[in-house]
Amino acid sequence: MADNHRQPEVNIGLVGHVDHGKTTLVRALSGEWTDQHSEEMKRGISIRLGYADATLRRCPDCEEPECYTVAEECPEHGTETEVLRTVSFVDAPGHETLMATMLSGAAIMDGAVLVVSANEPVPQPQTEEHLMALDIIGIDNIVIAQNKVDLVDGEQARQNYEEIQEFVEGTVAEGAPIVPISAEQEINIDLVIDALESEIPTPDRDPEADPRMYVARSFDINRPGTTWDGLLGGVLGGSLVQGELDVDEDIELRPGREVEEGGKTEWRSVTTTVRSLQAGGEDVDAASPGGLLGVGTGLDPSLTKGDALAGQVAGPPETLPPTWDSFTMDVDLLERLVGAEEGDTIDEITTGEPLMLTVGTATTVGSVTSARDGECDVQLKRPVCAPEGSKIAINRRVGARWRLIGVGTLTE
Ligand code: GTP
Repeated sequence: MADNHRQPEVNIGLVGHVDHGKTTLVRALSGEWTDQHSEEMKRGISIRLGYADATLRRCPDCEEPECYTVAEECPEHGTETEVLRTVSFVDAPGHETLMATMLSGAAIMDGAVLVVSANEPVPQPQTEEHLMALDIIGIDNIVIAQNKVDLVDGEQARQNYEEIQEFVEGTVAEGAPIVPISAEQEINIDLVIDALESEIPTPDRDPEADPRMYVARSFDINRPGTTWDGLLGGVLGGSLVQGELDVDEDIELRPGREVEEGGKTEWRSVTTTVRSLQAGGEDVDAASPGGLLGVGTGLDPSLTKGDALAGQVAGPPETLPPTWDSFTMDVDLLERLVGAEEGDTIDEITTGEPLMLTVGTATTVGSVTSARDGECDVQLKRPVCAPEGSKIAINRRVGARWRLIGVGTLTE
């Protein structure tokens, strides 16, 4: 793909507690890229989850690991650096109230960097909750960035390092490299790139598979007052999880939209044509998995306005998984509430209780119609499109907010 070789090929999540430095690390890794987000379309498709692309490189004349960089020219040798690959960073919000955003972002992460501040006791609540979410969704390619080492002395840094090691023992992050860094002062960024290259490989993808896109956002990019002949179709933002998508291809979106007919409402899938594709900051004719993708469609922009289609799945007509208004799921509850000040136990799910469920990039509220040992039936407020066997992050309202309580597997 000579014309778009810089298209990102893997999505790397940035997760961790609020203010531990996720955004600062993305900035350090994405070099000049953040400056390029000013154009309207680019701003349009940057998702609420922060999103930035970076091309990881190496200098052929430097030793490892100093050779790893994001600079096009080696500051030491002046040599042009070699491209390793272009990656997308999905920057999840660390605030406790934004767990649903973090969970829907996790659906498109191929691996993650868990950012942990060196100057606070380990774990902070969302350090633990985000790590649990990675575990639930099955993201096990993890790099730990021990950030803000510039704020502590050597002894504190060592002690904090040991606390991190102890905390991740027995979790999906056990054995993950812990890289001490200062994101703000750009110290050890080369070591982070080295770890990303070895720990978060680009997944094997089947180029023959039908394209499937998880829609994370949707927009109406027309300026107010645009006349009908200048109107652009609705734009979808998200990531391809498999296959290759081409301009002019027909796509179906599920669950689609709610239609009312004869006093009854039902959800019907929507079909449209791909009019343009934007990946890696460029217009492309074909897009492959990884990275954020902007898809210009023939849809009426009023349908895509304000994220109305977020959480949907897109692909060639008749190839998508089923749409579910209700389903049965096997339930595996966590042993205790994570991210709580002290570890409260989790009661069994009961018939009639509302749950917030994240399936792929979709978040929906469901009401439990029957709860049995290890499984339950839920009636959804908004249907979801998902294959059988999908993992579901289950959240329950505890106090003022939804808390992660377990993982479900969609059975039927
Ligand atoms: P949320 O997205 O809100 O969860 O926060 P975040 O994890 O993205 O944190 P962010 O990058 O916004 O950084 C929070 C604060 O920590 C900012 O004031 C940064 O300047 C500061 N900070 C980040 N990295 C470092 C570091 O390595 N050293 C020091 N001293 N400060 C840092």
